[in-house]
Formats: sequence, structure tokens, C-alpha cells
Amino acid sequence: MLVLGIESSCDECSAAVVEDGKKILSNNIATQISIHKPYDGVVPEIASRTHTEWIKGVVETALNESGIGLKDIDGIAVTNRPGLIGSLLVGLSYAKGLSLAAEIPFVGIDHILAHMYAANLEYDIDYPFIGLIVSGGHTIISLVRSYDEIEVMGTTIDDACGEAFDKVAKHYGFGYPGGLIIDQMAKKGDHRAFSFPDPSLHKGEHRYDVSYSGLKTAVINQLDQFHNEGYAKSPENICASFQAAAINMLTKRLFKVSADTGISRVVAGGGVAANSYLRKLLLSKNNLEVFFPSMQLCTDNAAMVAGLGYHYLKAGENSGLDTTAGSRVPAFKRKYP
Ligand code: KG4
Ligand code: ZN
Repeated sequence: MLVLGIESSCDECSAAVVEDGKKILSNNIATQISIHKPYDGVVPEIASRTHTEWIKGVVETALNESGIGLKDIDGIAVTNRPGLIGSLLVGLSYAKGLSLAAEIPFVGIDHILAHMYAANLEYDIDYPFIGLIVSGGHTIISLVRSYDEIEVMGTTIDDACGEAFDKVAKHYGFGYPGGLIIDQMAKKGDHRAFSFPDPSLHKGEHRYDVSYSGLKTAVINQLDQFHNEGYAKSPENICASFQAAAINMLTKRLFKVSADTGISRVVAGGGVAANSYLRKLLLSKNNLEVFFPSMQLCTDNAAMVAGLGYHYLKAGENSGLDTTAGSRVPAFKRKYP
């Protein structure tokens, strides 16, 4: 089955053709990074307008690169939740138009589940596993039981992990997007220079939750308070210490979930899964079986959407033209979806 995937939930405009939920025939990703760079962050109105200008070309290029004509596409999978509402609507509307005009069924896809599926494009992974979704908008430690069933074990009670990277980078003028730049600068720094705090949310239903607003405040406003004698207060050391604190906060909870559930298979996804410190740390754990998607499949892309969409379409689950886009994941939803 050939599925055309469309992803426009944030600032990446992407289309892909994937065969049988596995074989990537094309994965065209047009990034708006240079457009949003002057603002040090994604401007929603600009993102959606840019998607409207790009979507047609991005889809056509993905089809051309795959060598598959629209008439041979069996189904369309499009991200319709969660994300920036204007951006989501562009992809969804385009998919509906194509579906109607070419008489191809389409299905609306959850962006979180798509990130969780990304590694399945490259590896054969058995369920259940512990899913770690870390991006600019989401920070979720979950139990993944199938392609459409995840149970949230822990999440952020405030900022997302990637958002914290972006905000720290913005404050210090390191550049945009912050995650990759901090990752690179941290390689030249020493994480022992600052001992940033780990929030103490380890009770009851919040025992696997994280919080990034305290860390962000510590790094931005209370640097001296957490500085260790004998280390320079250099940008590289700030990056290394912040990155270690941000990632250790996550992995500490993840190890706890693994110990408490007895599940040792871990699958990561989302932009922050590209982080070299996180990858090295998790891959060094011999007691865990860890899967990371390749870099291009960590950040937003349509191949993961097409790959996941295949399973719904194969099961005959189609969306109607009355399908809408949704911007939010319900707060603190412990069963997801
Ligand atoms: O998944 P994604 O492309 O978009 C969302 O769904 O949010 O993730 C983008 C996020 C940004 O916050 C970016 O700074 C972060 O992923 N990111 C990284 C790295 N590469 C991207 N964070 C840490 N280290 C990286 N190497
Ligand atoms: Zn994403």
C-alpha cells in the first residue's frame, strides 16, 4: 500500500511517500528555520502563511522523488493534531482537497503518535516499549502498547524540553533553533561548572513528571547561585551544565519507569531525540534496548505520518471531510489518546 504523508503542524512543511508503513520512497522536508530565525522562535501566523505558499510544491516534489503518480497512491495521511492550528489547517485542507479530487481516502494523524512511530520505519520494534517523546512542544514518557495506544506515565508540568533549550539559547543570544546550537556548544564545555536543580516532583501521580521552568529560571536568572568554584562561567560551560540537567531530569524518570514496569525497550522520538548527550547516555545503558530514529526522522517529517497512517488505512479507518484540526493535547491526560 502506497501512502502519501503530509506534515505541517509547526514550521516544517513536509510530504512523503511510504510503502507498507516501512519503506520510505521519498521524504521531502522544507524547513522554515531561516524565515523564523530573526524572531528567535516560530511565529504562528508566518508559519501558516508560508505553508500555504509551499504545500503544493512540497507534495509535488515528494511524489516526483518517489516516482509514484498521484493515481497510484492508495491513501493520504495528514497530521491534524496537536500543533499550531493555522499550520495544521493548511496541511489538512490540502489533504482533503487531494482526497476529494483524486478520490483517495485520507486519515487524520496524531503528531505525538507519529513521532513515536518514526523509529519503526528503520527498525522492527516489538510492543510494548517505553516511549520518550521530546520536542519543542511535547515532553512525554509513556508506555506504548501499539501504534495507536499510548499511556502517559510522565509529562512536563510547564515548558517542553525543547522549548527550554530554545528559551535558554534565545536569552543568551546563542542563536535559533536553540537545541542543536546548545548541543554543539556543550561539546566544548564542562557540565560540572554549574549544578542546576532537579525539581522534586516525585510523589503520587506526578512521580514521573518533569518541570523545566525552574531550570530555565536558574540558568537565565540565578546563574551565580549554582556556579561551582574553579570553573569558568563561559557560554560553553552554561550549555554543557544546562544540557546535562535538562536531559538527566528526563532520563532519571525514564529509568524509574523502566524499573517500575519491568519494560526495558525504549524508543525515542521528537526533535530533542537528536541530542547527542541524550543519545550517548541512553545507548550506553546495557540493561536497556534503545532505539533512536536517524536525525532526519527525529524532527518533524511526513514519513513518520505516512508510516503510521498506513496502519489506520489498512484497517479501513478513514477520516471524513468534516474532520477538524486540534491544537492541544489535553493537559495531564494520563491515558493517551
Ligand atoms: O519535533 P520537532 O522538530 O518539532 C516539534 O514538534 O516541536 O522538535 C523541535 C525541537 C526544538 O525545540 C529544537 O530546539 C529541538 O527540537 N532540538 C534539539 C536538538 N535538535 C533539535 N534539542 C536538543 N538537542 C538537539 N540536538
Ligand atoms: Zn514534532
